Amino acid sequence: MSKLTLNEEALRRRTFAIIAHPDAGKTTLTEHILLAGGAIRAAGAVRARGENRRTQSDWMKIEKERGISVSASVMTFEHAGADGVAKMFNLLDTPGHEDFSEDTYRTLTAADCAIMVLDAAKGIEPQTLKLFEVCRLRDIPIITFINKLDREAQDPMALLDEIASKLQLDPAPIWWPAQSGNRLRGMVQMGTGLFQPYARKPAGSAEDVPHPDALPLSEAQSYFEEGEHAELMEAAELVEGGYPAFDRQAFLEGHMTPVLWGSALRHFGIDELLAAIGDWAPPPKIMKALKAAPAGTRNAAEPVPTTIAPGTDEVTGFVFKVQANMDPNHRDRIAMFRMASGSFKRGMKLKVQNTGKQLSVNAPIMFFASDRELAEDAYAGDVIGIPNHGVLRVGDSLSESGMIRFAGLPNFAPEILQRVRVKDPLKAKHLKKALDGLAEEGVTQLFRPELGSDFIVGAVGQLQFEVMADRLGEEYGLEVIFEPSPFAEARWIAPTADATKADVEDFMSKYRGQMATDIDDDPVFLAKSSWETGYVGERFPKVAFTKTKERG
Ligand code: G4P
Repeated sequence: MSKLTLNEEALRRRTFAIIAHPDAGKTTLTEHILLAGGAIRAAGAVRARGENRRTQSDWMKIEKERGISVSASVMTFEHAGADGVAKMFNLLDTPGHEDFSEDTYRTLTAADCAIMVLDAAKGIEPQTLKLFEVCRLRDIPIITFINKLDREAQDPMALLDEIASKLQLDPAPIWWPAQSGNRLRGMVQMGTGLFQPYARKPAGSAEDVPHPDALPLSEAQSYFEEGEHAELMEAAELVEGGYPAFDRQAFLEGHMTPVLWGSALRHFGIDELLAAIGDWAPPPKIMKALKAAPAGTRNAAEPVPTTIAPGTDEVTGFVFKVQANMDPNHRDRIAMFRMASGSFKRGMKLKVQNTGKQLSVNAPIMFFASDRELAEDAYAGDVIGIPNHGVLRVGDSLSESGMIRFAGLPNFAPEILQRVRVKDPLKAKHLKKALDGLAEEGVTQLFRPELGSDFIVGAVGQLQFEVMADRLGEEYGLEVIFEPSPFAEARWIAPTADATKADVEDFMSKYRGQMATDIDDDPVFLAKSSWETGYVGERFPKVAFTKTKERG
């Protein structure tokens, strides 16, 4: 039982995600943050954990074969900063491969802050930019970590300029690197002039050596070769004068990013990054929500906008991901529930807003870095796994009263549509159930055409189909065939501001053969080409054709 108040518990939480272009070092950094936080004892543990999971769960074969990380999860650890206050860190893991970007976008809705990892030699890459844009849309503040300093890097000023020009974000260097690659000497802290030396791995040794303690730059000559020390002193002065000092408010408002440097692989700059997250990343924020009783229940009424502060007594939150249980002997799924408020206790009853269903949460899971444990209590900002048999779906809001709904969990129109058939026609019924299950987990999207008995599945990337086929085989014993679908695009439809339902119905009746419903029974128009999407858009100005749908 916590002695802290609800507000104090919320204030010491940091829920964050790492965004990066594949190969920038997200996995390595995750591991080294956990190491710095004392959550794991040796590097290699995250990878090893992944390996275990893969052998446990066959569908992860794909992950192994391709060397990509498919599923997102959360890693929780407690760590005290320099101020001695123990903070709870919830690191949300996101898949790096862009075929799973939808998963990443949804995970970001549960994060209060993002660490943007850049490869020091490559700077901002396409996937970094995409993910950054999602963060900006959601007002998620960003801490920048420029990785791989142990390799030859771009000029640091050029990297900062790129951040400023491509992201329209003011970079505030917190540290400044003293060269890179073979000449990496360390880094100097802006403002204090503290120098953190870098210790190179001795030639021929497999072991890293600890980096020496930081000391004032003016006393650090011994770490430099001829002329380098004076050069760095000068550069540090220039940089301090040339860039704005870190302003936490500007960072929280999304105008500024503190820039840290290091090498994840060599555990350099990681303690500093963890301190920055602890000191500057925001605690859980006040969230916008709607308050209403679920449809079909007594007192069902028009929803009214409200706000939920993390210190609110009632337990509230939303499901941002549903993960298949890693244990193939169980069909359970684990809903990742991000808490927005309240003090959760194991055994508590929570209600699902849109269905009114009640759930006794008897076996909630906390995901510690090397272990899973039953969660006895949890607070705003925490993520707990709720095992269930398909009651919970991505985007569901849960609360004690069942009246709170958080909007804003996006569904993206798929980029690829395929028709799926099961090889053995006797198993067609099973296919429906299996496809529903996978769609509820958000693995792929499912569209049921109004006419005919086909199932159309949609995905943002080809790999999603492969994961799907694999899982249908392994978990449901269904061998499926994907066929080209006659449709190229899916768009959700709704009346425009000045239109009515009748306008939409008129459109639907004219295009009955191209209408389908998604898993929420919302109408979807399946277009044969993007040209057709444009064409119907012009012909039916009273119908809005949208590429995203917010669930919840
Ligand atoms: P990702 O999750 O963002 O895709 O990147 P990941 O951590 O898997 O790192 C991609 C590659 O970059 C890995 O090398 C990793 O060891 C390397 N790397 C990560 N951080 C650093 C760093 O600070 N310095 C250097 N020099 N390399 C770094 P790999 O050869 O692809 O994999 P592996 O065989 O080493 O596991």
